[in-house]
Amino acid sequence: MLKRETLPYAEWTYRIPEGEIRRLLKYQVKYYFGGGLPGALPIRQLAGIIEEIGRELLSDIGEGNKASSLQLFNYNKTPGLDSLRKLFLKRLVERQHLPFDPETDYHRVLVTNGAQQALYGLLDSIINPGDYILSAAPSYLGFVTPAVKLGGNVVCCPSDENGLTVEGVEKAIAAVKREAGTVPKILYIVSDSDNPSGTTLPQDRRKAFFEIAQRENILIVEDGAYKEIQFGKKRLNPIKAYDTENRVVVYLASTSKEAGVLRIGYGVYPAEIGDMVEKAKGYYDLCSPVLNQVIAERYYSLDLDQILGEVLGIYRERCGAMLEALGSFFPKGIMTRPTGGFFVWWETLPGVNFDSKTFNEKVAIPNNLLFVPSHAFFPPEGLVVDARGKLVSAKPHTNGMRLSFSAVPKERIFEGIEIMGNLLKKHLKQL
Ligand SMILES: Cc1ncc(COP(=O)(O)O)c(C=O)c1O
Repeated sequence: MLKRETLPYAEWTYRIPEGEIRRLLKYQVKYYFGGGLPGALPIRQLAGIIEEIGRELLSDIGEGNKASSLQLFNYNKTPGLDSLRKLFLKRLVERQHLPFDPETDYHRVLVTNGAQQALYGLLDSIINPGDYILSAAPSYLGFVTPAVKLGGNVVCCPSDENGLTVEGVEKAIAAVKREAGTVPKILYIVSDSDNPSGTTLPQDRRKAFFEIAQRENILIVEDGAYKEIQFGKKRLNPIKAYDTENRVVVYLASTSKEAGVLRIGYGVYPAEIGDMVEKAKGYYDLCSPVLNQVIAERYYSLDLDQILGEVLGIYRERCGAMLEALGSFFPKGIMTRPTGGFFVWWETLPGVNFDSKTFNEKVAIPNNLLFVPSHAFFPPEGLVVDARGKLVSAKPHTNGMRLSFSAVPKERIFEGIEIMGNLLKKHLKQL
């Protein structure tokens, strides 16, 4: 982090550290269980689309028509191409039962430069310094860290093997009301195959959170980044499916995991909130590139279930390999059993003294292994509800690991987890 004496930069630059995942990217190791990079993508289809677009443009140019190229390599509207917004909404209606009509409601969809921009834009548009935000512990650092940067008070709510608990969220709301005389503004939830915990929220909890948010006038930000990366046939309806009046939930999705990193996110917003985030986006980047949007439009017009089948099969196999290897080679601990997404969460049993950050730096990385330690998934300064129902400073959990299986071939997962398991057993005995 910067030292205040060097130059008078903005206050947050002294307060907020570099994201741990970005920091760890500098290490090149053989067994990389760190960042959640897509390790299997429909590259043939994407390459085919790029070739097709290139041929069409060259043919137009050959015929003296430059208009199509100029349009493609240009700026367009801030909220995204209308045709793409309609297509995204149609997809969400058909696959996830969102209560909208794509033809008339597509202006509720905003295309952003990745879902990350939408998360930032939402926080930037809604949070004033001192406002309260609820999120799981552990939580996606791309949400909680910007929330703290903007002055928000992040209350870390307990989660179990099924994700955020209803009881924990109710307690947090009560504590904020009691101590701050206000209600939290946002409840952030990654409902399917959470990053980092790998958990999927059961349908009854989705309904309960919707009802709580409606009752308390809290905005749910439902992040569906891994919604399409599901290993089985079972699909749960998003929380947004309950939002028939489009007032309680913002639903965010990303193309990054299912179509490559085109830097395209898409979200469905209650009207006013969508307008505010669009205004914010206008100041971040004016608008998303047209070329990427056209690639996305052609990609999402294909039969994706068939195309993604192969990709999902690879992730399913890698996840299975990681779970099996963890069961065989790691010491006794607690781990999640994801049904989708990119991550498994592992932590030591209660009472075991383990600092995963030190283990990563001192043992794993020097042995060609890398994961993301649990402390990275807590806000730089956060709150938690203690046993007496009081809001106190949150201490990041130090005894866990996020292990990413998405970009590592099956055999390498086995090898790496065996090596790490042996080192870990030795390390824990030495403590
Ligand atoms: C839960 C979650 N939300 C949002 C994002 C950001 O997605 P995008 O690549 O669309 O910006 C990620 C990326 O890893 C993520 O894991």
